[in-house]
Amino acid sequence: MAKTKTTWFCQNCGAQYARWQGQCNSCKEWNTIVEEVVEKRESRSWKQEGDEGTLSRKRNNKPTLISQIDATESPRLNTANAEFNRVLGGGLVPGSITLLGGEPGIGKSTLLLQVCLNLPFKTLYVSGEESAQQIKMRADRIKKDASDCYILTETKTQKIFRQITELEPEVLIIDSIQTLQTDHVESTAGSVSQIRECTGELIKFAKETATPVLLIGHITKDGNIAGPKILEHMVDTVLQFEGDRNHTYRILRSLKNRFGSTHEIGIYEMLGHGLREVANPSEILISNKDVALSGTAIAATMEGMRPLLIEVQALVSTAVYGTPQRSATGYNLKRLNMILAVLEKRAGFKLGQKDVFLNITGGIQVNDPAIDLAVVAAILSSNFDLELSSSHCFCAEVGLAGEIRPTSRLDQRINEAEKLGFEKIFVAPVKQKFNNKGIQIHAFSKIEELVRYLF
Ligand code: TYD
Ligand code: MG
Repeated sequence: MAKTKTTWFCQNCGAQYARWQGQCNSCKEWNTIVEEVVEKRESRSWKQEGDEGTLSRKRNNKPTLISQIDATESPRLNTANAEFNRVLGGGLVPGSITLLGGEPGIGKSTLLLQVCLNLPFKTLYVSGEESAQQIKMRADRIKKDASDCYILTETKTQKIFRQITELEPEVLIIDSIQTLQTDHVESTAGSVSQIRECTGELIKFAKETATPVLLIGHITKDGNIAGPKILEHMVDTVLQFEGDRNHTYRILRSLKNRFGSTHEIGIYEMLGHGLREVANPSEILISNKDVALSGTAIAATMEGMRPLLIEVQALVSTAVYGTPQRSATGYNLKRLNMILAVLEKRAGFKLGQKDVFLNITGGIQVNDPAIDLAVVAAILSSNFDLELSSSHCFCAEVGLAGEIRPTSRLDQRINEAEKLGFEKIFVAPVKQKFNNKGIQIHAFSKIEELVRYLF
């Protein structure tokens, strides 16, 4: 009898070892290395043996001149979900594999089921996690009328492909890749070799039939998609669904996209009847524009190509313990410390004995440096306990010398602020001329000047 071949895999990062060891060299996790049987058979196609594949949309497999390839032949599928389309770069690309990751309970299944229900053609939703009744209950919450969506509860890829050959769906959704199992590998579902093998089969299927495939992936405790790192290389697009579970807003980001930009985000609100697309996010991210409170300032930021007005809240209070506390939610803590140091050194504010808490409302994470000036304004406003006018907003980066620096796409940010009814925007000096009538543009080159103007 042939000896079964086994290899050790780290279940956290997918690194491969020749023998067992206690700690993974690549991700430094302990006790994650598990032995898996890697018995490989020759035929590893998604098609059944002897079955030549009855799906009509087959590719021709001859070399073709690039100038003769007709790209318009396979236009993107519009998913009837504007935010989802935007993040994908304009719709689903036929034959593409998209991986959607996110924390448990964030709404991955809800999002894809909703997309599936709204598609005007035949779709197959394969679930290895929930029963058909459970999915039906969820579908009823999301949408009442039936669509051309089929549900299959199955985890064996060979059985799934047999059903696909019969049904010929135009979009395939797998919930989740960690529950799938192929006969070609003997290890348990969710193990590194299973995930790699099943994804390989699905990719072959997608490319050969030009069917878009959407996969749901679990994430590990540090936020990476569970399974081998190679999984992210294999798929065309990696999307991440994130948000604070205590907030209702969810953000869909693309971490990798072979067919579009990775700068786009989609914003959703989780309601009792599914996810609502948030078309104008600025309105919801600013809590109450009529009442001015000390410690809040509005920043004109950009997320991808989209201007977004966001409220920054700061609380500055005298430290009770020796070491003052600094905490930031939705903003980089190191950057907060830097801004506090700049304020201390360049503008002479004694914040060394103060606790500083910073919060970006709506539970979102902002990486745009243009938010710095609003952070400065919010901190000082809380420190002096003087409110800023609710019709002011801020948009500039702050440098280490206390200088106010210009940001990209200033015109778009100013237009958005004007559209939302702000009366003044504080920016860095720029050469560009703006002819906005409804908003006054104030340029300052140093933090001290701005402080003198505001307080
Ligand atoms: P789910 O899609 O099951 O999350 P995941 O697949 O990422 O694990 O989402 C579950 C959460 O969403 C759950 O806490 C309930 C909530 N939810 C709503 O608030 N409204 C709805 O219409 C649905 C279907 C779910
Ligand atoms: Mg789920």
